[in-house]
This record gives sequence, C-alpha cells and structure tokens, in this order.
Amino acid sequence: MSAIINDIEIIKSESSKINDVDFENLKFGSVFSDHMLECNYKDGKWELPKVVPFAPITLDPSAKIFHYGQSVFEGMKAYKDSNDDVWLFRPLENFKRLNISSKRLAIPELPESYFMEGLKALLEVDKDWIPKQDGSSLYIRPFVFASGSGFHASPADEYKFIIATAPSGSYFSGKIKVLIEQKYSRSANGGVGFAKAGGNYAGQFYPTQLAIDKGYQQVIWTDDTNHEYIEEAGAMNIFIRINDTLITGPTSDRILDGITRKSIIELAKSKGIPVEVRKISVHEVVEAAKNGSLKEMFGAGTAAVVSPISGFGFQDKDYELPEIESTYADFIKKSITDIQTNKSEDPFGWRYKL
Ligand code: PLP
Ligand code: COI
Repeated sequence: MSAIINDIEIIKSESSKINDVDFENLKFGSVFSDHMLECNYKDGKWELPKVVPFAPITLDPSAKIFHYGQSVFEGMKAYKDSNDDVWLFRPLENFKRLNISSKRLAIPELPESYFMEGLKALLEVDKDWIPKQDGSSLYIRPFVFASGSGFHASPADEYKFIIATAPSGSYFSGKIKVLIEQKYSRSANGGVGFAKAGGNYAGQFYPTQLAIDKGYQQVIWTDDTNHEYIEEAGAMNIFIRINDTLITGPTSDRILDGITRKSIIELAKSKGIPVEVRKISVHEVVEAAKNGSLKEMFGAGTAAVVSPISGFGFQDKDYELPEIESTYADFIKKSITDIQTNKSEDPFGWRYKL
C-alpha cells in the first residue's frame, strides 16, 4: 500500500515533563514522552497521522477493543549515539509485522508511509527523550485497536493507530529462572500466536503468575499438542546452546517471528557459531542438562534484548545451568547492541538513521 504524506501536522504539548524524569534510573516502559502519534481509520480509510500531546483517550464503552480484543502492537527502540545521531533497528520489519498481525485480527492494514513518516515526525519532536546512557533507549510502542463501537461480534468500522514512546532501562535485571510449561498453552495451530495480538499476552498472565508464585520469572511455552517441544519464553524467542551449537525452534503459526531472533541467527552464523533452526524437545534439553552438554539458554526480544537463563524447572525438578566464562549470550548481546547503537560496523544493513 502506498500513500504520500507531505506534511504531518504537529500539535505540541504546552509544557514538557522531561525535567521530572530520572534518566539515570530508568525502569522499563513506565514514563512516557511528551507526544504521541495518532491516526484514525474512518469511513473505510486511514486519515493522516498527527503528532499530538501524550494524553488519555476517550472511547465509547461499547468500543470493540473492550469486548472482542481487536488489538495488535509492536515493540521497537530508538538509540542515540555519542554524536547525538538517532538510530532505529530494522524498523520496516516492525511495520511489516504490524500489518501481518492486523490482517489476522481483521484490522485494516496501514500504509507504510503513515507508519514510517509518522514515526520519524514523532521522534524528531521528542528527540530529547531518547536516552544516551548505556543499556537505555527509547522504547517505541506502535499499536492499533478497534475504537469503533457496537456489541455485534464483528470487526469494528473505526480504528486508532497510536505510537507512544517511553525512555526505558532494561526489561529484566539479571538472569531469569524459567518454568517449562506442561499444562497451559500460549497458542495453537491455526490461532494467533504468530501475531502480536494483545490477547496473546493476557492469556499468558495467569500461568505466568502461577510460575512466579513458585519462584520462577518466566514460562517456557511448549507446543499445544503434547507439550513436547520448546517454543517461546514469555515475550521472547528462545535459544539453547548444547555443546557449541546454538539451537532455536522454527517459527510457525504458534510462534512470533522475532526480529531479534532472526538477527541473532544471521549474526551468530556470520561469527562462525554453528546454528541449528529445528524443533528441540524438552526431553533433549533435560538430557543435555543431566549429561552436562547444556551450556546456555537465553531469551531474545526487543524489550529484553538477550536475557540469560540461570536454570529451569520441569516436572517439579530444578535444573541449574553452568556458570561459564565466555558465553554466547554476552557475545551476541554486545555484538547486537553495538550495531544498534552505532558503536560498530553494520555489515547487515540493519541500522536505520533517522
Ligand atoms: N515472542 C514474543 C511472544 C514477543 O512478544 C516478542 C517481543 O516482541 C518476541 C518473541 C521477540 O520479538 P522481537 O525480537 O521482534 O522483539
Ligand atoms: C518487545 O520485546 O518489544 C515486546 O513487545 C515485549 C513486550 C511484551 C514487553
């Protein structure tokens, strides 16, 4: 879909909240920049996006988002380098995935220029909100939801596309301990697991809380048929190192096609790390933990970047991962964040200058 935008209207906030923010101690996604991008779908088309002050929105109580959960989102980051240049990481991948998600949820797809030009206009206005501190970035949350009203269980006739941003620090502090899920499922064949649909996350909260109550931070989702194969880790894809080989499951109807995941696969291969994209069974991981060939497990995603796992629980037993000197997780995290923050060459052409 193409659409040309010449000028994006910008309505500036009367005052800035930036001086209230402690940029040295940022949490993840809890303070929001002064502006947001807003774009409405009405009468069968997307209207021009506008940059407006970040503020609450008013919706009819019968808006279909509340009843039927028509909502999709994305997660991206903007980084500022030492020269104050601003960089995004593979933003077109996020745009494409947002439309893939929208299509599955019967939400009208967005024109690329509304997403890209809108995002650029927003980041230009809120440039001062992009942190420079190591490990911090401006987390960007594009989302689309059904604002149209009515109790009829059918797609809405009106939608909102918003991009809100939040200067953020790391998502997890330290290593995480995970529980391999054997009862609940995150997604099913033919379902919406591959989409970044809000409801996928709501469905995870209860089983994740049960895992937290047992002392874990995350659930490792397994296939919905027999809970036999490892799929994802909460809001991350998962990588498993057995001896020197890095393994991750293939994407499917049930798994989000993570941008960090596919970047890691390419990066690791280019650095000579043996990578296998194949189904990996819980049995294989448990056996590898028992015989000492399981060296590392880590989650990967935009918010969490690369998040090392300290151990996992399975069938009431805990398995610890070994403490090793130079880990793939550290090496990959550094390589990828150096590319993202313009500290190293970008042989893949992933970095996108604003
Ligand atoms: N899997 C799920 C369920 C996610 O929510 C995310 C986060 O976006 C990922 C994987 C990682 O995807 P990406 O690397 O594109 O952020
Ligand atoms: C991201 O990694 O950007 C995500 O969307 C994860 C989110 C659910 C916190």
